[in-house]
Amino acid sequence: MKLILLGAPGAGKGTQAERIAAQLGIPTISTGNILREAIKNGTEVGLKAKSFMDQGKLVPDEVIIGIVQERVAQPDCQKGYILDGMPRTIPQAQALEDAGIHFDSVVSIEIEDAVIEQRMTGRRVCTACGASFHVTANPPKVEGICDHCGQALSIRKDDAPETVRNRLSVFHQETEPLKGFYEKLGVLKLVEGNQPIADITAAILQAIGV
Ligand code: AP5
Repeated sequence: MKLILLGAPGAGKGTQAERIAAQLGIPTISTGNILREAIKNGTEVGLKAKSFMDQGKLVPDEVIIGIVQERVAQPDCQKGYILDGMPRTIPQAQALEDAGIHFDSVVSIEIEDAVIEQRMTGRRVCTACGASFHVTANPPKVEGICDHCGQALSIRKDDAPETVRNRLSVFHQETEPLKGFYEKLGVLKLVEGNQPIADITAAILQAIGV
């Protein structure tokens, strides 16, 4: 099963990717988490990505395409994987197709901008393992501590309201056209994103026929 989760920033891609990956026993590949890890480790990719991410802009396609092609070639991806946050532009989607990487399903989590702006203020993330929580909708078992690895949770720098607005505008301009791209390939499925987390998981599983 090769699956892409599409959606605006804060639509719930990361939250759903984790749940679906656990259910299907395949890895989830989050380009956002890979880039944040690279920034934390001060790698060359991290240095290139930081200023784009801080401003809510997209990291250049060639950086992303290289990272993802390398990651999907790893042994743990043999039985499939979920892409969360990639592709984000038509050239990224085309590069995957050109490399012979085709997807069984592309699920777009549909949600209005106003709901997203509210959601982002409550997000808390684990800088160690990348897990994402919400203070009310998806709280950790112990306040401020990651359920998965026990590290402290923090607020993402790019969740500041002005940066969220930039990210939404980039999404509408650059990423939303991907729905048309995958509709033409016959693999696009739409799922309502403004409902409880467990209901979205059930809707995604139904949409992909699991
Ligand atoms: P990335 O990390 O991918 O961020 P994003 O797409 O903006 O998505 P988010 O992680 O913000 O949201 P999400 O949809 O995963 O939502 P989540 O589940 O966390 O990218 C960050 C940056 O990296 C980009 O801006 C760009 O610079 C760069 N980048 C990454 N990939 C790139 C690429 N391919 N090309 C170029 N640049 C790239 O949920 C959000 C919050 O809501 C959480 O608190 C969660 O608990 C809560 N929540 C989730 N579901 C629900 C629900 N149903 N009800 C209530 N609350 C919910």
